[in-house]
Amino acid sequence: MAVGKAGERKLLTGKCIIVGVTGGIAAYKSAELVRGLVKEGADVHVIMTAAAQEFITPLTLQTLSRNPVITDMFAPPSRWEVEHVALADRADLLVIAPATANIIGKIAAGIADDMLTTTVMAMTGPVLLAPAMNVHMYENPVVQRNLRLLQELGYHIVEPEEGPLACGYSGKGRMAPVEKIIARCREILTGGDLQGLSLLITAGPTREYIDPVRFISNPSSGRMGYALAERAAQRGAEVILVTGPVALAPPAGVKVVQVESALEMQAAVEEYFPAVQAVIMAAAVGDYRPAVKEEKKIKKEKDEVVLRLVKNPDILAGLGEKKGDKVLVGFAAETHQLAEYARRKLREKKADLIVANDITNPGSGFGTLTNAVRLFYADGREEELPLMKKEDVAEVILDRVLELLKSRKVG
Ligand code: C5P
Repeated sequence: MAVGKAGERKLLTGKCIIVGVTGGIAAYKSAELVRGLVKEGADVHVIMTAAAQEFITPLTLQTLSRNPVITDMFAPPSRWEVEHVALADRADLLVIAPATANIIGKIAAGIADDMLTTTVMAMTGPVLLAPAMNVHMYENPVVQRNLRLLQELGYHIVEPEEGPLACGYSGKGRMAPVEKIIARCREILTGGDLQGLSLLITAGPTREYIDPVRFISNPSSGRMGYALAERAAQRGAEVILVTGPVALAPPAGVKVVQVESALEMQAAVEEYFPAVQAVIMAAAVGDYRPAVKEEKKIKKEKDEVVLRLVKNPDILAGLGEKKGDKVLVGFAAETHQLAEYARRKLREKKADLIVANDITNPGSGFGTLTNAVRLFYADGREEELPLMKKEDVAEVILDRVLELLKSRKVG
């Protein structure tokens, strides 16, 4: 592996990357992207659409990439006409950043009417898209359908982020930060740091049925578990996601097992447990279930109904009893005495790490996009993370799981 002047690892040395730039205001950020990829050792070739050149000049990207920028299919020298195929053959990766609704639509429809789209069609290697557009454009069902279709076809997508947009609106549509795009390029090209690892992740609520149409549940959205599963898969892990009912799309490249009740979740978790090295229990498992599930719908004849509940098995504690050298991570959603309960859970469930959050804090807990968590380790260490997006919390948890697994191997 090549090492730079400052001793930093250059993970992209010898890799040929095509950067496609399309006509969105985020096009100015492509300069940083090209610079970052070159800095990591990649041989970068830029293709710009006509609209992109209204936002940033080819000269800027030519200077930063140290290669001629391809802008026009029919401009002399006409060798570009075949060059797009040659470049597509040679490239290890094509990344389009920003990717407008227009280019996404064209790729999804198989249109090849300029240098960038013809190169995309000629690519046999991976293609990464970094969408950037107005929030309403991004939410448009046609754009969403196109992105889903491309994802199913194996295109990689680094999702836009929420925040103030150049058009004056606020919402999802801002291009992912350049560092994130470069990290995805690295993962795609090097396989990711979790390669070779099998993870079992649980997510969402459980439903404990009273009768065929009624159940006891909780407001878990599943976002934390889905974010963990998605990032783990992108970082190269093999992921089994056992999920309660949620309104989220299954993450790409993840084996999804749908369950409803705690007992079903337990059965699925037990089935896959022997095959994995680590388990992250992000599901909000119902602690109790009705002692009897009525076969027929309970009619509202009586003024009062008494429901008898029995305790569900503690899935995580069950795994703790037979964990061997597997890493077990649990979550603790608390309203009070957070540290005390988290430490007790570590002991009682024989977990290696408990991710605890105070659900009375604004921005934390059920249904939110963000979370402020404290990490409690079996060896007594503690770590407090600031309020972060659940995707970023997921990243840190996966980093820690990897560290725990590595320390286990060494120790
Ligand atoms: O004990 P408590 O429910 O607060 O513990 C939360 C952690 O234990 C979570 O990781 C949750 O997924 C897991 N859990 C479980 N089985 C249960 C209840 C919780 O595995 N029945």
